[in-house]
Amino acid sequence: MSEFYVTTPIYYVNDVPHIGHAYTTIAADVLARYHRQLGDDVFFLTGTDEHGNPAAQAAARRGLSPQQHVDEMVVKFKALVEQVNATNDFFIRTTDSEHCAKVQAFIQNLYDQGDIYRRSYRGLYCSSCEAFYAEKDLVDGKCPDHGTEPQTVEEENYFFRLSRYQERILDHMEQHPEFIMPESRFNEARSFITQGLEDISISRASLQWGVPIPWDESQVVYVWVDALLNYITALQYAREEDLLERFWPVDYHLMGKDILKFHAVIWPAMLIAAGMELPRHLFIHGYLLMGGEKMSKTRGNVLDPFEVMDKYGVDAFRFYCFREVTFGQDGVVSLEGFENRYNSELANDLGNLLSRTLAMILKYRGGVIPEPPPDSGGDLFAAATRLGEEFAASMSRVDLSGSLELVWRFVRSLNKYVEDMAPWKLAKEPDRGTELNAVLYNLAEGLRLSAVFLHPYMPDTTLEILGQLGITPGSGEIMLQQAEWGRMPGGAEVQPGKPLFPKLD
Ligand code: MSP
Repeated sequence: MSEFYVTTPIYYVNDVPHIGHAYTTIAADVLARYHRQLGDDVFFLTGTDEHGNPAAQAAARRGLSPQQHVDEMVVKFKALVEQVNATNDFFIRTTDSEHCAKVQAFIQNLYDQGDIYRRSYRGLYCSSCEAFYAEKDLVDGKCPDHGTEPQTVEEENYFFRLSRYQERILDHMEQHPEFIMPESRFNEARSFITQGLEDISISRASLQWGVPIPWDESQVVYVWVDALLNYITALQYAREEDLLERFWPVDYHLMGKDILKFHAVIWPAMLIAAGMELPRHLFIHGYLLMGGEKMSKTRGNVLDPFEVMDKYGVDAFRFYCFREVTFGQDGVVSLEGFENRYNSELANDLGNLLSRTLAMILKYRGGVIPEPPPDSGGDLFAAATRLGEEFAASMSRVDLSGSLELVWRFVRSLNKYVEDMAPWKLAKEPDRGTELNAVLYNLAEGLRLSAVFLHPYMPDTTLEILGQLGITPGSGEIMLQQAEWGRMPGGAEVQPGKPLFPKLD
């Protein structure tokens, strides 16, 4: 058994959750569930980033204190986690007192060792990004991400000697080309680090909503420093026992491309400064777009994930996220696209295959799955073996859409198999009973394997499939070692149930 630690970004609570948040959380959940299926010891962390300007401003707009505002908003973020059926092991809030104390201890240590110094600073600040911009990086004088004009901010701040760590980060990248995935993001990160890192301000004097700087309580910790530390503080207080040794370094920090810089520059430098190991991988995915535009709170073009899931079910939504858009790239999502995939793939390819198979087993074999045939499935056996190998390789590249496509090809081959074998014809010829047995077994076995592979994507549906195949839910039936062709004995009684995905009109 090996340890596997996966994280999502912790989300800002200045506004309600949207499909982008759901996307990263589901991706992390797919990985977490997959690793549990492998038998790994998994820790999956998500949570909320509750300090900083945008949250304080949102609270002020609502006439609430920041604490009241974040306490209300976090409920919605926790509800989203639950609704997407994410199996996170902990939900961190940066307002947790344990987190705050550990953030203070961390930066006190950097201060004591001379990595932090005080100086006055004047710069252009986008309060939505919580970041300073150089004039040259603005577009028509505006923030490239938010389209708003940054303010000139002048403060006495504490600075972190980021510049000290440039070479060490680059060395690490040189030795670990898998540090940032996919490769294009690795190159992007390397190129901006190579351009030179300047020391950064890690405190704010103008803001009260944050973790106080331990040696100067008139300032608070820069929200990004506070936020990045969540990945290690959570391990230290999520359980009674300190999990840091067991799970650090993290296997995957998942995130969208908007926050690559913070994770590829500030975070490694902070960790090196503290003498800690660097994350094994940052995996950067693309944006879900609607009508070609990035969805964001500030732009107001969000698709409500709650509505979609209420109407069509969580698993259909989870499936769609990785079916429609290549994981790692940007892609357009729409209700129309969703409904098309739902009908053609979930209702037809998968749902219909199950109901047809069970109906035939019921009709021709009294509902009992025949014994495995001696020839062990022929082409399907070969396809299933290939699927197992390719799926594992694809998952190790975090190619969540590629892995799903591999399973789908297999599901399609099962559909083709039914058409080719035409069991309804075999049933009319009494001397071809053995052939019919083999076909029915192979279909049931193919469905069982599909369910095991699809489990991380559609956890409830796949358990339902196994249940309908007469496999009593225990602990082990969903483990990946079960995804071997021919492991299912015959003799189980099928339990046909409701259609998995009723067709939409
Ligand atoms: N609080 C910071 C992260 C701190 S992590 C130490 C933050 N929060 S956020 O609420 O803005 O969430 C950003 C993340 O949400 C993105 O990195 C991405 O994971 C996800 N997404 C937000 N919009 C998205 C899309 N339109 N599409 C896909 N994912 C997107 O940044």
